[in-house]
Amino acid sequence: MASVDRVPNLFREEAAIGRLMLLEPDPSARFKLTIWFDYTRKLVNAIREGDLVAIPNFGADDRFSLCQIFQVVPTHFAMATDVKGYPGFLMDAAKSASQDWTLQEEKSYEDTTKIVCEAIPMNLEFVDKPGLAALQNIPVLPEGSVPMPGKEVRLVSSELTERIINYGIPKEKTVFEIGTLLRDEKVPVKIDLEDFVKTHFGVFGYTGVGKSNLISTVISKVLNDPRDVVNVCLFDLMGEYLGLLIDLMVSGNIDSKIVCLGVETLPGPALSYVSEAKKPPETTHAPTPASLDSILASQVKVKTPNPGTGPGPQPQPDLGTAARSLLDTALLPKRLKSRTEEFLPHIKQLMQLQKLRVLYEPYKQTLRSFIDRNKSSVYGRIGEPKRIALDAFLGRKLQAFMDQELISSIAATVISTLSGDQGDFGPQLSVLIERLKEVVHQPQVDVKREYGITLTDIVKSLNSAKTRSLFIVISHDPNKIREFSRELISESFEQRRRTGQITPLSLFVFDEADEFIPANIQGSSYSDSTEAVEMLARRGRKFGLGVGIATQRVTYLNTSIMAQPHTYFVSKLPRETDRERVSEAFAIGNDVLVQTFKFHKGNWLIMSHDALGVEGIPIPIKSHNAEDRINSFLNDGKPS
Ligand SMILES: Nc1ncnc2c1ncn2[C@@H]1O[C@H](COP(=O)(O)OP(=O)(O)OP(=O)(O)O)[C@@H](O)[C@H]1O
Ligand SMILES: [Mg+2]
Repeated sequence: MASVDRVPNLFREEAAIGRLMLLEPDPSARFKLTIWFDYTRKLVNAIREGDLVAIPNFGADDRFSLCQIFQVVPTHFAMATDVKGYPGFLMDAAKSASQDWTLQEEKSYEDTTKIVCEAIPMNLEFVDKPGLAALQNIPVLPEGSVPMPGKEVRLVSSELTERIINYGIPKEKTVFEIGTLLRDEKVPVKIDLEDFVKTHFGVFGYTGVGKSNLISTVISKVLNDPRDVVNVCLFDLMGEYLGLLIDLMVSGNIDSKIVCLGVETLPGPALSYVSEAKKPPETTHAPTPASLDSILASQVKVKTPNPGTGPGPQPQPDLGTAARSLLDTALLPKRLKSRTEEFLPHIKQLMQLQKLRVLYEPYKQTLRSFIDRNKSSVYGRIGEPKRIALDAFLGRKLQAFMDQELISSIAATVISTLSGDQGDFGPQLSVLIERLKEVVHQPQVDVKREYGITLTDIVKSLNSAKTRSLFIVISHDPNKIREFSRELISESFEQRRRTGQITPLSLFVFDEADEFIPANIQGSSYSDSTEAVEMLARRGRKFGLGVGIATQRVTYLNTSIMAQPHTYFVSKLPRETDRERVSEAFAIGNDVLVQTFKFHKGNWLIMSHDALGVEGIPIPIKSHNAEDRINSFLNDGKPS
């Protein structure tokens, strides 16, 4: 580092000069570096995982390789490396060694104490030319050589770090900021919007680390981008995004809708609010199991009155009651629960703006798909030969109904058919009959036109660049979401393929992805959603369709889909098998993932082959907290 008139702000902790002690080849990172710094208490608190360092390389005297520290361990070389010796000696040695930690506050004078750092190359270098006035003028280039073992190592400043981290994103591209470097909140981390959406992303972390929160942030960023129109469809199995995306739901700039699959998805008052007022019902009582026989006998189409209603025309519930029922059943993030009441006016507004929709075409299922999706509970633990026999029995008995739409009258007929000769299958058939009774009791209501939506409407919106759109798909029945995901995605995809349409970007997000793309498929709805995600992951890119998946159990995911996303967010994964999957799929060392053990909620290792400024290097970040965004929305965003 010879130049005298060096650009200011190139390095930080100027007094701290480390040394490159070891350079070893590494299959995933090219090299692993071991760097030692002399220990001081001040320095050990100043060096963190994620710090960048500069090391002279073999290229030329003014070339400095850039590397990233991924592990920092204060090490006392006079202490035993294991605890297997005589306890008294070991304790004494440890006690006397421990004084060296506290005595060396700002100045290091013991040879035995080092800060041992492990690092990987960033595959970039900079040129420290004399006479460059500003940091922006420093040339940063792909690394032409490797760092020199034994040379001094310096910590890179925030200013230079920011340039390096966001280095490869061309100026003309649309970017969004996902958060900051974990170790340095002054350094924003930017993502190339188009590459991010088109090349797919995955979010992997243990329960409670902030996956849904991150998805909310990502969706908010891509939808609020002023330059590019991006449309988003989120499959919300847990029903937790009404709270996490309420600001976007009521935004005037976004065509946003909550799409309910099946009227049973809505709580009674909300359902009544969106339904036509009923004429006097055809039957005065809702059918009960006891009255099934008479229904079966007469074979009339069951018409169930609105839930919770008696005879006669029903008064429409007021908006307040309907909105309250939605709020009461919404899953709000813990930290926002104390503000529950403040959501109410926004939910009212959402209903008034007709942003709550029921899929208009009654969601069709055949008896066959119904049996398929209930297989695991109906078949229970019976062995393979009996399963085959039961399949054959059902096939024979129900042949006439298998491919019919399972409306309540058909369900009632099937129940009567199954109630006679049950062969050896009494216990299994009674489970199936119980399930069919639920179909008989399904409320049959007519949703008001303005609160209905069709698959075609949704596809049209997702493929249109006119306005930004956001669809949150919810259902009381996860099978319906899985089945619907295939219909929606294949329709959007086919339409684009037929016409060669490649814009606007549309992003499909699957939280709880192990419930959509499991390693082991059990039932036909799982193969539907797997097909949908596979189609996007393998062929979506060409047509501007992207997919995002989030899960806490990587091992339970379909392995070939897991390997498709080009951008990964990884947080704590306590199970080794989960970490191994990530490290195999992204080709990063398992040891690099160890830093995630220390992560707090909202901390991520982000890595990308395309969408970040550095390619394939994991970067520890702190993502923006979606709850902060919702909190400020509740503070300012009074509904009009
Ligand atoms: N970026 C963040 N910054 C600060 N806190 C966060 C952040 N993200 C999440 N949290 C906190 O962590 C909690 C859990 O977040 P979240 O529900 O998103 O986790 P999750 O990984 O989706 O959990 P699960 O596996 O149960 O679905 C949130 O309620 C929030 O308080
Ligand atoms: Mg979650």
